[in-house]
Amino acid sequence: MREYLSDRVDVRSDTVTQPTSAMRTVMEKAPVGDDVLGDDPTVIELQNRVAEMFGKEAALFVASGTMANAIALRTHTNPGDEIICDKTAHIYKYEGGGYAALCGASISLVEGKGGLMTGEQVKKAIRKAEGSGSHYPDGTLVCVENTSNLGGGSCYEQKTLDEIAAVAKENGCATHIDGARIFNAAIATGVDVKRMCRDYDSVSICFSKGLGAPVGSVLVGSQKFINKAHRWRKMFGGGWRQAGIIASGALFALDNHVERLSEDHIRARKVAESINSLENFSVDLEAVQSNLVYVNCNIPASEVVSSLSKHGVDLFDLPYNRVRVAIHLHITDEDVDKIIQAFSSL
Ligand SMILES: Cc1ncc(COP(=O)(O)O)c(C=O)c1O
Repeated sequence: MREYLSDRVDVRSDTVTQPTSAMRTVMEKAPVGDDVLGDDPTVIELQNRVAEMFGKEAALFVASGTMANAIALRTHTNPGDEIICDKTAHIYKYEGGGYAALCGASISLVEGKGGLMTGEQVKKAIRKAEGSGSHYPDGTLVCVENTSNLGGGSCYEQKTLDEIAAVAKENGCATHIDGARIFNAAIATGVDVKRMCRDYDSVSICFSKGLGAPVGSVLVGSQKFINKAHRWRKMFGGGWRQAGIIASGALFALDNHVERLSEDHIRARKVAESINSLENFSVDLEAVQSNLVYVNCNIPASEVVSSLSKHGVDLFDLPYNRVRVAIHLHITDEDVDKIIQAFSSL
């Protein structure tokens, strides 16, 4: 599927996807209401559908993955609390320090492998105020990311997810999944999202990444949690009106763009293996389990980016002399060949 008004191969991120013409047609005709007043039928349909899919009581449609996570963290925590997550977690690295600024929370970092923590590691990272003579912050929330973005698109095994949730519960912590790419994880592991998230209190799900909708994320949880989250969304300025027009893009994505994620994974694998065989580059093939490929470069990553740009391939350079190739619904087999050829020329 190309449907992309550019001859560039843009693999900077899976967020660059544009609504296809079929998606735009559906969006144009979507019935809308006023979501602040709670009567936008398309938003209601999306929220009900996603809550049901994930086996949770309720859902809230919000503007972005960052907003979904920020609302979740703020709903679960109070100032002086501590959040436990992997050292590469998006909530820690790339959300503007929202956990500190908006929640007044600190973070206890776990040295996971490929962005993935174990139950044992999480257990060790939980610090409770009680019994510490008031020295410690209060560890009250465990957050996992599936797939793990900086971990290379890696996926949790179900056993590990269940263990982490159990350890969190035993230690009086709530649990949140940053599921920006949770459908990639479901397709890669063959585990249904309902089962995957069974033991977790809340999940944020993005529609504007691999699923190809233009805007939007959904937060799911218990009715009580979502009632509280609704208030935080308001206070963060996220109440919106005729949001059904974009919710319809998300509904279209659920119907049409979930199963096809397996194509992205196959293409990412091909890119990873081909680049790994080149002299100047290496890829941790074990971590390549979904649509992301992190490439270690023997030449400066900034030079790689500018050279590839001349070949019509766009990507970002990253710390530690790496670049990332993010495969998404506009990337075809021909584009994959173009990417591999461009890397081979360096
Ligand atoms: C794992 C993860 N969580 C959350 C987000 C935030 O999503 P958004 O860019 O919609 O705010 C991203 C964005 O790439 C992400 O990779």
